[in-house]
Amino acid sequence: MKAGVNDKPSVELRTDVPHSARIYDYLLGGKDNFPADREASAEIASVWPNLPRSMRANRSFMRRVTQYLAEKQGIRQFLDIGTGLPTSPNLHEVAQGVDPAARIVYVDNDPMVLVHARALLTSTPQGRTTYIDADLHDPRRSSSPPRCGRRWTWSSRSRSA
Ligand SMILES: C[S@@+](CC[C@H](N)C(=O)[O-])C[C@H]1O[C@@H](n2cnc3c(N)ncnc32)[C@H](O)[C@@H]1O
Repeated sequence: MKAGVNDKPSVELRTDVPHSARIYDYLLGGKDNFPADREASAEIASVWPNLPRSMRANRSFMRRVTQYLAEKQGIRQFLDIGTGLPTSPNLHEVAQGVDPAARIVYVDNDPMVLVHARALLTSTPQGRTTYIDADLHDPRRSSSPPRCGRRWTWSSRSRSA
């Protein structure tokens, strides 16, 4: 059984061993990383100098596309699979900046992301954000109506992305 954000995290936080999510966080300028992650980041960047720039471009694309879908296309429900560590602005902050009633379901299968997921649950009172600890390869758990149904409207009139 998968853990929920309210469960005590079972992941062993080995801060002395580099972790991909924390490396990503560091390269994006985040603060959820440790010396081992920073050392690994420096090594990666030495052989792939454009990586930090392409990662920032990826984040920037997420912000632009969310803004466009919410503002221009009227999308009010978002499913974000492969959420990663919270990085401001997170998807729900962008979508709810357009409409505070927007609903967002975050999905990731990394225990490290689960540990930090509480930071994603800062929804506006009118909207909703939910975090599901699940694998993309198991859509029955990660995006099925039973999992998202209480958070989403599945009617054809509501618009989702
Ligand atoms: C590079 S991060 C992307 C973070 C964020 N979406 C962004 O664009 O900045 C990729 C994330 O996908 C997650 N991921 C990888 N495979 C997955 C799977 N099979 N199911 C769910 N999440 C997965 C990883 O745990 C990681 O947090």
